[in-house]
Amino acid sequence: MNQYPNHCVDFYASHVLHRLYEIQHTERHISAESMTRVANEFKMSASQVASVVSFYAFFYPEPVGFYHILFSNCTSCGYQVGQLNLLEKICRLLSVVAGKTRGDGWVSVGETSCIGMCDHGPSMLINGMPLVWLDDERITQISCLISEQKPLEQWPVEWFRVESSIRKHGLLLSETVQPGSSLKKVLASAPQQILNHIIDSGLRGRGGAGFDTGKKWQFCRDSAGEARYVVCNADEGEPGTFKDRVLLENNADALFEGMAICAYVIGAKKGYLYLRGEYRYLLDHLQNVLKRRYAKSLLGQSIVGQAGFDFDIEIVVGAGAYICGEESALIESLEGKPGIPRIRPPFPVTRGYLGQPTVVNNVETLIAAAHIAKNGRDWFKSMGTEESTGSKILSVSGDCRKPGVYEYPYGVSIQQVLDDCEADNVQAVQIGGPAGTMVARKDFSRQISFEDLSTGGSFLVFGENCDLLSVNQNFARFFAHESCGFCTPCRVGTSLLTSSWQKIMDGRATSLDIHEIKQLSALVKRYSHCGLGHTAANHILDSLQQFSERVEKRLTRKTFTPQIDLDAALEAARKMTERNDADAHLE
Ligand SMILES: Cc1cc2nc3c(=O)[nH]c(=O)nc-3n(C[C@H](O)[C@H](O)[C@H](O)COP(=O)(O)O)c2cc1C
Ligand code: SF4
Repeated sequence: MNQYPNHCVDFYASHVLHRLYEIQHTERHISAESMTRVANEFKMSASQVASVVSFYAFFYPEPVGFYHILFSNCTSCGYQVGQLNLLEKICRLLSVVAGKTRGDGWVSVGETSCIGMCDHGPSMLINGMPLVWLDDERITQISCLISEQKPLEQWPVEWFRVESSIRKHGLLLSETVQPGSSLKKVLASAPQQILNHIIDSGLRGRGGAGFDTGKKWQFCRDSAGEARYVVCNADEGEPGTFKDRVLLENNADALFEGMAICAYVIGAKKGYLYLRGEYRYLLDHLQNVLKRRYAKSLLGQSIVGQAGFDFDIEIVVGAGAYICGEESALIESLEGKPGIPRIRPPFPVTRGYLGQPTVVNNVETLIAAAHIAKNGRDWFKSMGTEESTGSKILSVSGDCRKPGVYEYPYGVSIQQVLDDCEADNVQAVQIGGPAGTMVARKDFSRQISFEDLSTGGSFLVFGENCDLLSVNQNFARFFAHESCGFCTPCRVGTSLLTSSWQKIMDGRATSLDIHEIKQLSALVKRYSHCGLGHTAANHILDSLQQFSERVEKRLTRKTFTPQIDLDAALEAARKMTERNDADAHLE
């Protein structure tokens, strides 16, 4: 039996983000004194700790309420229900101003980006715990419990229940990997043989970019370094995506098995699961799975009796920053720093965590690798298309009767998914979240695949009555909020896109504004430092191209009309210069 490592027991002392979370949780904020304390504990400067605190959304320099509520503002699990604004309602009932802690210190209410509960209706985090299926009545009940100062432990448990709504099982979801079954098979072959197997399977990353997984492992294996690392990206922050949440809940063994196989192939002794802060409620479950695997010698020293095969997994929990899903930002965060994307190259496979060769893979990718190791490359290649082998797990939400997780062979059409999730009168679907592609009805025969529409998994359905332009507005705000601020094209560009789109929404825009939005979008796309900026304007360009008549309808004037008479404004200057010739006038 392998020893359960110290970092798992002493979780809160193991990482600066965990320590800060513990302070935030108990003291409701992180004071300057606490920052100095943490700086001493972690041998950092106070300014380094202060920069970490200010970077992550779930840390506050001023106290939040004993009941700290954050509503998701996603298009699927957001707080606007028809005409009813749940956030405004609870603020009214509790006499609290959004964004400010109530005078007596008991309540604070705010909003946050999508919390990954899109198949669970309007949702919120209360003291970090997801509370789902909110409606008018539930909001009233919640405000009563808060007014009575009832501890959360005494609230109805079913309010906090997050179900795994798996609607369609495919290649990965229909079969459970028995703990150790893939690993034992793998250990009978040399690492390079297993790697060739993964390469031949055609497995490509499921996190969005679709990089060849086998090649990534090979680059890492071939890179010189004192140590190598495996990192599982469980940061899932793209609005509309929740399939990794369901996989972490139901398939954690297969995930850890996939990480161990990767470790065997690349020669890593240490792995990290980077879990988004919104999924902290899954931590106990994941730690328990790890504990069981240590007990069965599936982690730790000499795994399944193979001398020299030593591998530990540690969980690091993020603190509310979408950008930490970008792999180099994630690595910065793992190192206890603000999650600012690195300049690439070098790529993580050559210089990743602590400057050493590192593989970063999505949850679904690592689970697929575990299945391939057990069932073989041909089994995997028997499904999908030429460039997209295997299956894709989709998070389906929005205007449909059956939101949830669906697994399909690659190549499935949009229409097929819409039929299965029972969505009628759909005007558009957003594939791959705000960073992805908006597809209009005429193109519903297009397919989910790397050849056509690639996606990390988000499949948002917009019915006939949905105002698509306000969806754009929601997406634009998301990017402006989540931009890490490091580079000007993204920091300024996403804010300008938000205000320009608002101008259209308000009916104050002209054709000139549209022209400028297009130019700005091209600039943000081209000159930003990382993938967030490169994709932040996609949804706007899609809408301008596919739904141009709707945009046109909101324009008050087709051409630019100045608010002031420019020629008249020059009169004073003409007088001062004693000029009145044609060149001194504006037409
Ligand atoms: C802004 C941004 C956010 C991202 N978020 C995630 C994420 O939450 N999960 C994920 O697996 N990949 C995410 N990615 C992609 C990762 O950078 C990386 O490509 C991926 O984790 C690699 O794993 P894969 O090859 O298994 O897909 C994001 C990329 C960007 C630019
Ligand atoms: S593109 Fe945006 S998110 Fe990426 S580094 Fe620049 S500011 Fe940060």
